[in-house]
Amino acid sequence: MTVKRLRRLRQSENIRRLVAETRIDPSRLVLPIFVSDEAEEETPLESMPGHFHWPSSRVGLLTKQAESLGIPGVLVFGVTEDKDPGASRAFAHDGPAQQAIAEIKSSTPGMVVFADTCLCGYTDTGHCGIVENEKVLNDASVEVIARTAVSQAEAGADFVAPSDMMDGRVVAIRRALDQTRHLDTGIMSYAAKFASSMYGPFRKVASSTPAFGDRRGYQIDPHSHRQALASIERDVDEGADIVMVKPALVNLDLIKTARERFDVPLSAYNVSGEYAMVKAAAAKDWMDERRAAMEILGAMVRAGADFVMTYHALDAARWMNEG
Ligand code: PBG
Ligand code: ZN
Repeated sequence: MTVKRLRRLRQSENIRRLVAETRIDPSRLVLPIFVSDEAEEETPLESMPGHFHWPSSRVGLLTKQAESLGIPGVLVFGVTEDKDPGASRAFAHDGPAQQAIAEIKSSTPGMVVFADTCLCGYTDTGHCGIVENEKVLNDASVEVIARTAVSQAEAGADFVAPSDMMDGRVVAIRRALDQTRHLDTGIMSYAAKFASSMYGPFRKVASSTPAFGDRRGYQIDPHSHRQALASIERDVDEGADIVMVKPALVNLDLIKTARERFDVPLSAYNVSGEYAMVKAAAAKDWMDERRAAMEILGAMVRAGADFVMTYHALDAARWMNEG
């Protein structure tokens, strides 16, 4: 027997390219965007280097850049300091998200706009739902969430993306959208969303850290993947068009299982903490940012995600276009 020479396939750049098993291009990327009530110009975010609080009036500059790089979609987060118990800025016609969605649709009509649908950036408690006596109420929250979804659809969102983890929100949103004749507005459900440590940098940016307690009463325990599969199954039954796993990097096994089990598009959220780890290490010259980011995004696609929400979207698209 002769030596089995596997290195033959690794000899040159072009051989490696021909036999590469996972190929990613910008069509797999969605760029998250923060739009703030208070920002008068782009304001850099300390916990998320390379990202900004955008005034809604200027956010078209960013989506034009994304468009020119071949990025097909953005995920809009509204940010405000104007918080109250009923989360009124979440569904206001002139709320930060609603204004931004309209601006994005007029600057870049082809851009697919996903609107994060949640209350935590708008409640005085920082919880994802309506609170009474320090309890996060389910059904009362669902009502406000459905109303928020309709207001985002009215502003022009292509998909609403509920990230609150209340029970029954998907069916309630579908019904509310249908009743208001938003028949073509889709739902991308954060179906498998875990109570993770990985959202830290995001909460600083959205000022949505809970004032008391934590999110373990509604988000899934990070190591309970059967619960996550049940949550995905339920959301698909309730009418979700796309389901998401979040965070992605610490749940690649779930992405693979979900891909095998469900026949709807599957997205993955490469969350703020995962981004921050790469950024922090790269800043110290401990890792090469480009190679680390591409390896991570490739892993998510390889596991079975059809597309990935990532804070690396702009840079990653540039790197992919360079080849
Ligand atoms: C709001 C929301 C969060 C994220 C997306 N939507 C924060 C949370 O649940 O606390 C996290 C995004 C990230 O960390 O990148 N419900
Ligand atoms: Zn929330």
